[in-house]
Amino acid sequence: MDEKARALTAAKSAAGFHAADMVEDDMVIGLGTGSTVFYMIERLSGRIRDGLKVSGIPTSYQTAMRAREYGIPLTTLDDYPVVDLAIDGADEVDPFLNLIKGRGAAMTREKCVAAAAFRFIVVVDEQKIVPQLSAPVPVEILPFALTPALAQLRGLGCRPVVREGIKKDGPVITDNGNFIVDCSFAEIAKPLEVEDAIDRIPGIVESGLFCEFADKTTVIVGHEKKCRIINSTDIVP
Ligand code: A5P
Repeated sequence: MDEKARALTAAKSAAGFHAADMVEDDMVIGLGTGSTVFYMIERLSGRIRDGLKVSGIPTSYQTAMRAREYGIPLTTLDDYPVVDLAIDGADEVDPFLNLIKGRGAAMTREKCVAAAAFRFIVVVDEQKIVPQLSAPVPVEILPFALTPALAQLRGLGCRPVVREGIKKDGPVITDNGNFIVDCSFAEIAKPLEVEDAIDRIPGIVESGLFCEFADKTTVIVGHEKKCRIINSTDIVP
């Protein structure tokens, strides 16, 4: 592993471990998806072995499989519609704690769990912190409505590209049985307006823009040997 990759791994594990250490006895935890959350799962597993009692709601098949492997008891949003802490990664975080998520195509379930949570803990490394959101926005679309939904997305001024599988020919199929379209905008100056406009298109299930959780969000930015914490109170209006 080269120096850069080693530093990134250390940063992700610092953020993941910090988040796992925020979990308290008898909490119901939203288990996000991705490589940073993986470290949180690893640490939480150790704490469970030491006697911590928690239940986790996984946001993807990947996380459910890992959580089972690591001995984390699982439950569902049906059993626990209110979640104490949702812990998840992100692809970009702006100064107002708006996020882009969905690199792993799991953002629909991630958004359901984040919405159900009292607190939303976002674990990232420093390169995810950006002055303005600019990554392509992942959008989950019902295959039935693909063509009209693409036309309406283009009408919002973006270039939508259906995500293709790796080691699978054709489109990525989400855990919910839908397609993912990555939407490149020239600029995302008003993320909440873009999120709302995308949500209004029939056939769109969810987008990877998370702009309505800032008030309950804590961002843990991992560094090699420490973490930087950003809360909604740190937002400069
Ligand atoms: C899953 O679809 C995503 O929303 C991830 O949570 C996000 O991409 C962060 O993943 P990493 O921690 O692997 O970068």
